[in-house]
Amino acid sequence: MRSRRSCLAVPGSNPRFLEKAQGLPADEVFLDLEDSVAPSAKEGARKNVVAALREGDWSGRTRVVRVNDLGTQWTYRDVIEVVEGAGEFLDCLMLPKVEDPAQVVWLDTLLTQIEKANGLPVGGIGVEAQIESARGLVNVDAIGGASGRLETLVFGPADFMASINMRTLVVGEQPPGYTEGDAYHYILMRILMAARTHGLQAIDGPYLAIRDLDGFRRVAGRSAALGFDGKWVLHPTQIEAANEVFSPSQEDYERAELILDAYEYHTTVEGRGAVMLGDEMIDEASRKMALVVTAKGRAAGMSRTTAFTPPAS
Ligand code: GLV
Ligand code: MG
Repeated sequence: MRSRRSCLAVPGSNPRFLEKAQGLPADEVFLDLEDSVAPSAKEGARKNVVAALREGDWSGRTRVVRVNDLGTQWTYRDVIEVVEGAGEFLDCLMLPKVEDPAQVVWLDTLLTQIEKANGLPVGGIGVEAQIESARGLVNVDAIGGASGRLETLVFGPADFMASINMRTLVVGEQPPGYTEGDAYHYILMRILMAARTHGLQAIDGPYLAIRDLDGFRRVAGRSAALGFDGKWVLHPTQIEAANEVFSPSQEDYERAELILDAYEYHTTVEGRGAVMLGDEMIDEASRKMALVVTAKGRAAGMSRTTAFTPPAS
C-alpha cells in the first residue's frame, strides 16, 4: 500500500504551483483538472499536467491526476490526453463525484484500452474514487468493489455538504447549531467500512480554512482516530501536520512492535495464547491491532529505539 497521509491538491491550470509542489513533502500529489480549474482553463490544464508529469521530479510521491466528473463533457478527453501523454509517469487517476459502480467500470475499461494501445502494463494505473453525494454514499459498498484498480475511497466534504443540504459554508467544520456529536461521523464510518471491506485506503477530504492549523489538526485527528489513512492538504503548512497526525505516535509505534515480538515469543517458544505484557493482557486480537499500528509506522519510516527482551526463565 502506498503511504497517503498527506494528499496535496495542485490546480492543473497553475504552472507555478505545479512547479512548487515538486519540492513539498506530501505523500501524494494530485494534479487537478476538476473544481480548482475554471471551465475556460480546462484544456490548457491538461497540457500543463502532462508536461508536469513528464518533466517534473515527483520522486517518492504518489502521482495522481483528478479528471472531471462524468456529468461533464471533459472526462473522456481528460483520461485520454493525460494517459496517452504521460501514462508511464502516473500512478492513479482520481474520479470525482462517483455515484454508481458503473462509472468506475467505465474508467477501468477506458484505461485498459489506452494502456493496450500505448504499450503500458494493463491494470498499472490505479483509481481513486471520490464519494461526494448522498447517492455516492448509498452506493459506496458497490463502488468500492467495482474494479481491481481501485486503491482509495475519498470523502469530498464540500460537494457532499451541498448534496445533502447541510447548513454550513465552512468546509470540514460542524454545521452551526449542531452541538452534539460529529455531523460527519456516519459519513466517515460508512466510507471507512466500504474501504476496509474491499481492502482500500480511506482518505479524508479538504479543510478549507488554511490559516487555521489547529482546526486542521483537530479535524484530521478525528478521522485519523477512526482509522482513516490520510487527508487532503491544500497548503504547504498542512502537509507536516497531516504527516504527523496520520502516523502513530512514537510511543504507540514502539508499543506495537513490542506486542508483536512478545506475542511471537510467547506463542512459539512457550506455546501460550494469552500473556501479560507489562500491565496488559495481550492475545491474537492484540497482535492484529499492533499490526495496523506497525504497518502505518513502518510506512512512515519510523524506527524503534527499544528491543524486546525475553523474560528470564
Ligand atoms: C472535494 O472535492 C470536496 O468536494 O470536498
Ligand atoms: Mg468535490
